[in-house]
Amino acid sequence: MDRIRIVGGQKLNGSIAISGAKNAALPLMIASLLSRDTLTLHGVPRLSDVRLLMRILGNHGVDAAISGKRAGQAFDNGDTITLSARDIVDTTAPYELVAKMRASFWVLAPLVARMGEARVSLPGGCAIGTRPVDLLLMALERLGTQIEIDAGYVVAKAPKGLIGNRIHFPKVTVGGTHTALMGAVLARGESVIENAAREPEITDLADCLIKMGAKIEGAGTSTIRVEGVTSLTGAHHTVLPDRIEAGTYAMAVAMAGGDVLLEHARADLFQSALDSLTASGAEIIATNEGVRVKRNGAGLRPVHVTTEPFPGFPTDLQAQFMALMLKANGTSHIRETIFENRFMHVQELARLGAKIKLDGDLAIVEGNAALKGAPVMATDLRASVSLVIAALAAEGETMIHRVYHLDRGFEALEQKLGRCGAEIERVSER
Ligand code: EPZ
Repeated sequence: MDRIRIVGGQKLNGSIAISGAKNAALPLMIASLLSRDTLTLHGVPRLSDVRLLMRILGNHGVDAAISGKRAGQAFDNGDTITLSARDIVDTTAPYELVAKMRASFWVLAPLVARMGEARVSLPGGCAIGTRPVDLLLMALERLGTQIEIDAGYVVAKAPKGLIGNRIHFPKVTVGGTHTALMGAVLARGESVIENAAREPEITDLADCLIKMGAKIEGAGTSTIRVEGVTSLTGAHHTVLPDRIEAGTYAMAVAMAGGDVLLEHARADLFQSALDSLTASGAEIIATNEGVRVKRNGAGLRPVHVTTEPFPGFPTDLQAQFMALMLKANGTSHIRETIFENRFMHVQELARLGAKIKLDGDLAIVEGNAALKGAPVMATDLRASVSLVIAALAAEGETMIHRVYHLDRGFEALEQKLGRCGAEIERVSER
């Protein structure tokens, strides 16, 4: 199993090209199931989750191909992927695959919308909590789907097709909103999705569906209106830049010090995280090329953050910000309101010398930590990268084990940081 070795103490200078967003690419790929025609996605990040989803879609009959890298093309431009779901050969998504990647559960909506049936394994819990799917099922039921749970599988049936309806989410859910959208676009009549998630990845999916012929208004606001159509066509779409990757590297620069341009990053996609970084003392400059992050010499101030649905501070940047706050000159409070158990990184950060107290959904982070390199273990995607950030400012060597978690969501992490001056390498075991 690969490990990542980091020796702390280097400043970061240069530029990092931000990849396409994993959390946009996955639902976009799943949306290919909605049409018989080819969906071409550009700027798809090279990640193990993307490869796995291609295999999962392949099982349903989707013909998926990655176009080869052109000569001279930079390694971090992402891939172009074509997905053709001309004939869906299997409407079952088995446990072995869904258990490996939760987002693959989202195939449920397009399968039932197009084929009138689907059998998809329940995803189960994961490292960040129980993560129920009741609201995703509620959305499909509102669209006229009969749902039964049988031996760990969701069995969904709508033999006469989906019917538009009002779907009100009692809680903001990204997966629920993706599900409602992918169902409603092929339902008969109008649907209104209320208290919809406003995350940029929702807007990106809606933009792509509109290119495929869907009639959607209001994506990016909390009320989305969809007028169903009988079929969708193919389309070309470029995946939006990854706001979580951009926020992560912005925090890495704030931690290590230096001056880095995050190419293609869009400040409007992670403004609340940028505001917290500014409050901590980093300098942020949004330009046409991307977002530039600087910190030279000055100490970091403690900043309190609470995770919230978009446009609030994202839960997917909570662990990284906590790592940064270890070097603030005072105590900070970090409250996690989205997931119940998303503090797995606290114990591993402690191995590097962090002093963090947990009190329910609140983490109290003592600043001025004397961080010292140590062997640590990646537990989930964002937790792992918080260890990278802490290691950049730790004295000596940190060895991060189980880096397959990082490979799920960060394209070419060690190259991107290495080119800016970090002492970082991947150590492969033979
Ligand atoms: C998406 O997960 C992302 N995953 C997550 O990123 C992200 O942390 C999360 O949204 C919140 O922004 C992808 O896009 C692939 P939710 P999702 O439904 O859709 C509760 C990463 O690291 N809920 O918005 O699963 C749920 O338990 C990942 O890239 C229900 O109660 O998140 C949570 O408390 C991790 N019932 C809250 O809603 C439901 O049926 C928000 O979850 C569904 C959700």
